[in-house]
Amino acid sequence: MNVLEERILKDGIVKEGNVLKVDSFLNHQMDIHLFGEMGKEFKSRFADKPINKILTIEASGIGIACIVAQQFDVPVVFAKKSQSINLEGEMYVAEVESFTHKCKNNVIVAQKFLSPEDHVLIIDDFLANGCALQGLIRIVQAAGATVEGIGIAIEKGFQSGGRIIRNLGFQLESLAVIEKMNAQTGEIVFREQ
Ligand code: G4P
Ligand code: NA
Ligand code: NA
Repeated sequence: MNVLEERILKDGIVKEGNVLKVDSFLNHQMDIHLFGEMGKEFKSRFADKPINKILTIEASGIGIACIVAQQFDVPVVFAKKSQSINLEGEMYVAEVESFTHKCKNNVIVAQKFLSPEDHVLIIDDFLANGCALQGLIRIVQAAGATVEGIGIAIEKGFQSGGRIIRNLGFQLESLAVIEKMNAQTGEIVFREQ
């Protein structure tokens, strides 16, 4: 069991509706020592890839992405979310549907921050259905850049995102994959890696 899995068992809280609360260490308060360990782990899993840029999405992905970026010594770009249709300037835009929030958002990156020379590692905190992630992939491809890999902190293995992304042929590395969890008992079961 890795440090993230141990921390999830210690401080994660299973809520009704298959929601895992990790706001005491991952996506509200952030434990930078844990993030440091996660950054090293992503560095080793993608060591053979010519990564020159990290891409994530606001808000919760940004903290993790910055610490991962220190390991690779590359810049971070975060995609912005907006429901606005008044988009100005030269931007890549992907429309993304959130199952959780039952709404559509635009995911936006300025064209000047992604180009065909870029070899991108995408980082995010959660992977559930993967709609946001697929939006990020479409944006990288629209820029003519290369997706070298995808690093996720917590994948909900019982939702479809992980399977879809792996079936598309991407190297997807999730530090903790939850096979099942139970709000009544608090039990959390991880996939063996
Ligand atoms: P998806 O298709 O992109 O996987 O998204 P989904 O609609 O399933 O999830 C919407 C939001 O809910 C995402 O954050 C995602 O990180 C978060 N989420 C999904 N499952 C869980 C969970 O079990 N626990 C927690 N804490 N979050 C979960 P977001 O709204 O896009 O953004 P932000 O929080 O980064 O601002
Ligand atoms: Na996120
Ligand atoms: Na989130």
